[in-house]
Amino acid sequence: MAKKIKNIAVFSSGGDAPGMNAAIRAVVRTGTYYGLNVYGIIGGYEGMIKGKFKKMEKRGVGNILHRGGTVLKTARSMEFMTKEGRAKAYKSLKKKKIDACIAIGGNGTFTGAKVFTKEHNIPFIGIPGTIDNDLYGTDYTIGFDTALNTAMEAIDRIRDTADSHNRVFFVEVMGRHSGFLALDTGIGTGAGGIVIPEKETQIEDLIQLLKKNATRKKLFSVIIVSEGNKMGGAPEIAAIIKKRFTNFDTRVTVIGHLQRGGSPTCMDRVLASRLGFEAVNALLNNKLNVMVGITNNEVNYTSFKKAISKSKPIDLRLLEMAEILAM
Ligand code: F6P
Repeated sequence: MAKKIKNIAVFSSGGDAPGMNAAIRAVVRTGTYYGLNVYGIIGGYEGMIKGKFKKMEKRGVGNILHRGGTVLKTARSMEFMTKEGRAKAYKSLKKKKIDACIAIGGNGTFTGAKVFTKEHNIPFIGIPGTIDNDLYGTDYTIGFDTALNTAMEAIDRIRDTADSHNRVFFVEVMGRHSGFLALDTGIGTGAGGIVIPEKETQIEDLIQLLKKNATRKKLFSVIIVSEGNKMGGAPEIAAIIKKRFTNFDTRVTVIGHLQRGGSPTCMDRVLASRLGFEAVNALLNNKLNVMVGITNNEVNYTSFKKAISKSKPIDLRLLEMAEILAM
């Protein structure tokens, strides 16, 4: 028979994402509703190793739903990548009598969870939280929608100045190795071109596109570039293009960490609340060592292995659509 769960710990790890606080609130309030003791771990796996626990109360997570960042802090722990580091983390969890952990994060977080749960007998549940949206097993990850909207607002402003000066702007958005952020930002801003790592032959296409624009007297353009392209980000791609179009006035903007902060959108707050609630329910229903996700508006569970190793397909038809609509 499964061990009765009484004490759980929740933590955020890896790059922060708007909506993580909403997920923490949901875990704490759902857990306490079911009579569990909920602890927060400060600073992700680093905090787990160092034994930084904090008892969480339902009123203690008031007024955080709308805030970006994470009240539990976060880190990318090198020590947790080692067997010794994970053994220390296990010792800390045991000392605190933690029966199960809820991890909010992305790829690196679940890679750690996968290895840890193979080595030690404390189960984990994962909540997908990353602006990159690159996890298999959920349509959206927490923070993706907010990051999209932040990038969109920034690019709307760039568009104004690009138009005034007849300039070609190369705008770099985050996404690590995946182009989800770039693709949707590009569609949402009517970008003249979108360069993502999932499509390799794009430089030639882009050159043809800019040539076409020039003959059609389309004098300004905003090209969205995902940071994870093989040829580099916006500065590198802008340099390649500039060599072929010396007469174009080009500029580069890297949006960077602006996309990671700010108040989460309602979409992200709802998603995070649902996932936090479902993570606790999964634990209580003995669905262990899985990431909880939502696909087609239904809750589902994916093993950590699948969530990190299967790649979520990007719809390349949307690139084609974006090009047609930006004419
Ligand atoms: O995974 C989220 C993310 O923002 C990626 O899009 C980006 O490549 C990376 O984190 C940046 O990491 P850091 O904040 O450590 O510079």
